Amino acid sequence: MTRINVIHAAVIGLAATFVLLAFDRAGELHRDKYVHVPPAPKVAAAPPAVDPDKGKPPPHNDTVEDLPEGKNRELTFYTCTACHGVALIKAQGLTRDLWDSTIDLMLEKHRMPPIKAEERAEIVDYLAESFPPRRKGRGSDNPFLK
Ligand code: HEC
Repeated sequence: MTRINVIHAAVIGLAATFVLLAFDRAGELHRDKYVHVPPAPKVAAAPPAVDPDKGKPPPHNDTVEDLPEGKNRELTFYTCTACHGVALIKAQGLTRDLWDSTIDLMLEKHRMPPIKAEERAEIVDYLAESFPPRRKGRGSDNPFLK
């Protein structure tokens, strides 16, 4: 009888050991070790407090010839490309009035140096003539229709 109890005890003890080992391997006994803790996100180097180039258009290598021919092309080029290329200008198609307010925008918002009224009129002439509002509707943005 006692021998059977000893065997029982041994079997139960072994079984318990295996169960514990199994849990251990499965990580149940030290869960925290196995729980995936994502690494702290890398903090990007702080940008300089004041970025001197903020809002500055990219540099360009445009020349007068990048503007379509027309009266006052040179004046327009040299007045309008000190800060940005011709692409910004060519991307627009505006009425004379809107070109005129674009110049206000450049003067007020972008601190363009003041220009003489006479030159301003000539530049607006050139812009309104060379970059009029585009035809609305289907196909107006289609480069193959130009
Ligand atoms: C003193 C600098 C300066 C001058 C000179 C200047 N601009 Fe600009 N212009 C800017 C800046 C800055 C922007 C904004 C660029 C950006 O958003 O990347 C801009 C943007 C523009 C845009 C795009 C506006 C939009 O809403 O997308 C047009 C069109 C434009 N300029 C036309 C002109 C014309 C025409 C002249 C000449 C009469 C001129 N600029 C002269 C600084 C200038």
